Amino acid sequence: MRKFLIDTDTASDDAVAMCMALRHPDVDVLGFTVVAGNVPLDQAVQNALYTVELCGDDTPVYAGAAQPMLRDLGTAQDVHGQDGFGDIGLDLYGRTPADGWGPHVIVDTIRAHPGEVTLVALGPLTNLATALLWAPDIAGLVERVVIMGGTGEHGPGNISPTAEFNFWVDPEAVRVVLRSGMPLELVGWDVSITSAVVTDERRAQIRGLESPLGDFSIDIQATLSSYAWDETRLAGPDFPDPIAMAHAIDPSPAISEHLGVDIAIGPDPMRGTMIVDHYGFAQITPNATVVAHYPEDHFFEMLLDLLGNRD
Ligand code: RIB
Ligand code: CA
Repeated sequence: MRKFLIDTDTASDDAVAMCMALRHPDVDVLGFTVVAGNVPLDQAVQNALYTVELCGDDTPVYAGAAQPMLRDLGTAQDVHGQDGFGDIGLDLYGRTPADGWGPHVIVDTIRAHPGEVTLVALGPLTNLATALLWAPDIAGLVERVVIMGGTGEHGPGNISPTAEFNFWVDPEAVRVVLRSGMPLELVGWDVSITSAVVTDERRAQIRGLESPLGDFSIDIQATLSSYAWDETRLAGPDFPDPIAMAHAIDPSPAISEHLGVDIAIGPDPMRGTMIVDHYGFAQITPNATVVAHYPEDHFFEMLLDLLGNRD
């Protein structure tokens, strides 16, 4: 069993990624740490608790940072809905998280299992950066760090012309992580819009599972679907966190390159822009494996398998 620790700002695509990990037979999810991002922290915590319960699991959920390190929180409720799950009336209230604070749980978990933990970050990197500032030693103890964030050479941004939301919310946290020495694997929004768009055909395949998790995974995309069709002009909602989770589960089919990566700090329009030093002009020491491609069919085959009814 592989040990996963998942950090999330639990909205409609995060939840699908959570289900994938909880359902995978070879993955042992040690816990979920929650960070403010798509929705305010308390809502993200409730959404995570709801999702774990829906999966029939009891993996602990821990609250983490309620705002970015140095900035006011900017949410994506216009993208995922006020509740983050498409505002379809789900009962996303009244559940109780585990005792413990996200950054502390990250440090304690990695130290307890040196060389064995895959940390998957699906939201802004505030929890991870805070953990690193408190305990920089974890950089050498974690096995893998898979991050949904940034947008590679193919661009574009989804919160500004060049910035992806997770990196835009807390760019200072991203810089702490990029300079930490952790074994980073970045799956950007460019990968999502090229290989993880839930078209009508893909939606029919997921509905065709006739499974509670398959239906849940589509139902909660109500707001994201409208946003995709009207704003980002995609053929359906895209699944950045699920395809990042697919890479965490099986990196073998990915096309990637180890590169020097930094991030733009400062005001819009450059805030949160991922800077990839392909040719060494900025002399940034290579510090991250940037995924340029993850095959669409491989992703959806894995997604359908994991969301289907278990016999
Ligand atoms: O830009 C996409 C990312 O921002 C995804 O993780 C989505 O859930 C939001 O957090
Ligand atoms: Ca997310």
